[in-house]
Amino acid sequence: MLVLKGFHHLTLGVRHAQEDVDFYVKLLGQSLVKKTVLLDGEDPIYHLYYGNANGDPGTLVTSFPFRQRGVMARQGSGQVRVINYSVPTGSLEFWRSRFAAMNVPYDSEIVERFGERRQRFQHPCGIEFDLVETDLDPRPACVASDIPEAHAIRGVHSITLSLREVAESIRFMSEAIGFRNAGQAGSHYRFETYTGGPGTIVEFLHEPDRHQGSSIYGEGTVHHVAFAVDNVEQQEILKERMFALGYIDTSESVHRNYFRSMYFKMPGGVMFEATTTDIGFAIDEAPGHFGEEFQLPPWLAGRKDELLGRLEPISV
Ligand SMILES: [Fe+2]
Repeated sequence: MLVLKGFHHLTLGVRHAQEDVDFYVKLLGQSLVKKTVLLDGEDPIYHLYYGNANGDPGTLVTSFPFRQRGVMARQGSGQVRVINYSVPTGSLEFWRSRFAAMNVPYDSEIVERFGERRQRFQHPCGIEFDLVETDLDPRPACVASDIPEAHAIRGVHSITLSLREVAESIRFMSEAIGFRNAGQAGSHYRFETYTGGPGTIVEFLHEPDRHQGSSIYGEGTVHHVAFAVDNVEQQEILKERMFALGYIDTSESVHRNYFRSMYFKMPGGVMFEATTTDIGFAIDEAPGHFGEEFQLPPWLAGRKDELLGRLEPISV
């Protein structure tokens, strides 16, 4: 049974919209794939999607800039702690110079884990990212005028979860959602889908003494990680499998305009999502023009000027 196909997107609560755009687009060479809004109440918040120019699942990271609402999240265990992007082997020195030149906080030392060199750096809201060197990622490069293809990001390589306890979560990964164990290095455990490789890798970092993080949307944390499934039928198959094993912290399938989302909590407390790939970003902008205009779902379309007027202007 292969239901989950690797990453679809990650969703973060960040600080200000413009600094978030600058981080992904100017610094990392990602494309702004969609500019839309979260409206759960009266005050709109941007929902910004970044990824490769095609908006391919597995390259996508999305942001809610929560400073506008003044909601601070608390980092801790039971969360995605690190987002890891893949870059070609030999790229880290390029990125270290770039971080230094652009005043981005980054770790002084390059570390190696599972045979891959990695460089830690930080988003302006404090969320941790790694660049991981691999030559096993065939996805298109996210190039920019000042980022050559030989060093450019290919997409999300993996995620690192912070967990106080790992035993039941290890069981969950294989028995409930079909990942295979791909090794252990000290307190890091690695899992991947059966196809494996960059874009399909989940790591646990066992941190038994780390305080529990918050799980509601707020500034400074990764709220959830979404994995790709074909359609709603696949979500149902996954749900039935989880229910049969006693993993019942699962939502209904929710319509998110560009996909349908089913949320479920894994035993270590991290929010996972199964996201369908049967709709996509071309419903309101043609490929090649993703992210150019502010987009709203049909149920908010009549309020475009009003909602835009209540958001800080951003430039890409
Ligand atoms: Fe999501």
